[in-house]
Amino acid sequence: MVRLFVTKYPHYKIINLDALTYAGNLENLKDIEDAPNYIFEKLNILDVPELERVFEQYHPDGVIHLAAESHVDRSILSPLDFVYTNVVGTVNLLNAAKKQWKTDVTQSLAKSSSNDKPLTPQPSTPKPINPSTFAQQSSTIVQPLFYHISTDEVYGALGETGLFTEETPYDPNSPYSASKAASDHFVRVYGETFGLPFVISNCSNNYGPNHFPEKLIPLFINNIIQKQPLPVYGDGLYTRDWLFVKDHAAAIDLVFHNGKMGETYNIGGFNEWENIDLVKLLCKQMDEKLGNYPGTSEKLITYIKDRPGHDRRYAIDASKINKELGWEPTVTFEEGLSQTIDWYLENKEWLKNVTSGAYQHYYQEQYAEKD
Ligand code: DAU
Repeated sequence: MVRLFVTKYPHYKIINLDALTYAGNLENLKDIEDAPNYIFEKLNILDVPELERVFEQYHPDGVIHLAAESHVDRSILSPLDFVYTNVVGTVNLLNAAKKQWKTDVTQSLAKSSSNDKPLTPQPSTPKPINPSTFAQQSSTIVQPLFYHISTDEVYGALGETGLFTEETPYDPNSPYSASKAASDHFVRVYGETFGLPFVISNCSNNYGPNHFPEKLIPLFINNIIQKQPLPVYGDGLYTRDWLFVKDHAAAIDLVFHNGKMGETYNIGGFNEWENIDLVKLLCKQMDEKLGNYPGTSEKLITYIKDRPGHDRRYAIDASKINKELGWEPTVTFEEGLSQTIDWYLENKEWLKNVTSGAYQHYYQEQYAEKD
């Protein structure tokens, strides 16, 4: 998403805040790090003074909040980390935005001597964002926007049929999804209580290059390369809706610029797969690319103890964003998976670097003795 915004909007100033914890990696943005409209700040959203410093220094008039602990298995091992980053961190970011934007609006109002433009969201009113987003405004008021990126996991689990819509009640089942649900509520509450202009999107499972190999697809690609077992949880019949990461970035771009204030948009791939079928497709593509005898990688499949509280099925109804903003996925699953595998095969050094050290410790803790 950062790459898309930096390259597509050279007139924006993009400030990328990242704590660079275990899954963060500056290598991922090497190709744009010298772009004149790009600034990197190593910063943890739990650090309030630093957050306030960044808001005061750059006066951003848009925030796209993707900072989160995102792996369900880690949330089961360590729930509090998720409360801190996803809940407390989000509230810190909301507070910093609210404080700065109130100050900016007050100063702008004083300068323009117009006092009829309070900092309030306008629900259901289409609000194109000013193209000079991120430019510091001194005499005109730019309506700021807090865009919170969330997950379909807040809706809980589906049975064999049905889809998550924007009206599906929240029903989270893991510490991760509970923390994301709480953060979504806080964003909405800051809109209701303080008039902070916001928009939220809830997306299904992403996959693609640069993905940290703890999630199903990159973990299994790495294990096939290493000829290690492929640990399928439970009966392998859990279902997820997969979306190529670039299609998610394109959706974020649309919601940020054309989304309606105070609204939620579901984003999904219209692409449901049972885990075991996905893993077999992955094995097939890997065998072809590695020149293996057909069936070689499938032999690595090992059914292991299930994830506690494992949601049976997720599937997104993305018709709202499709109808209102004209978004739809552009990359088929076979094509996206093939591109993803190629990226990992071409970037074995990257994979080696991110799977050394702490990763080994996590892997042992997560997978040892679960056969
Ligand atoms: O639905 C959106 C969510 O998708 C995001 O909000 C989360 O940040 C992201 O982690 C993802 O959650 P999942 O739990 O669905 O993704 P994960 O890749 O961990 O697992 C996908 C499926 O594969 C799930 O049914 C569990 C299963 N699985 C996963 C791993 C890591 C296995 O069978 N074995 C594994 O080793």
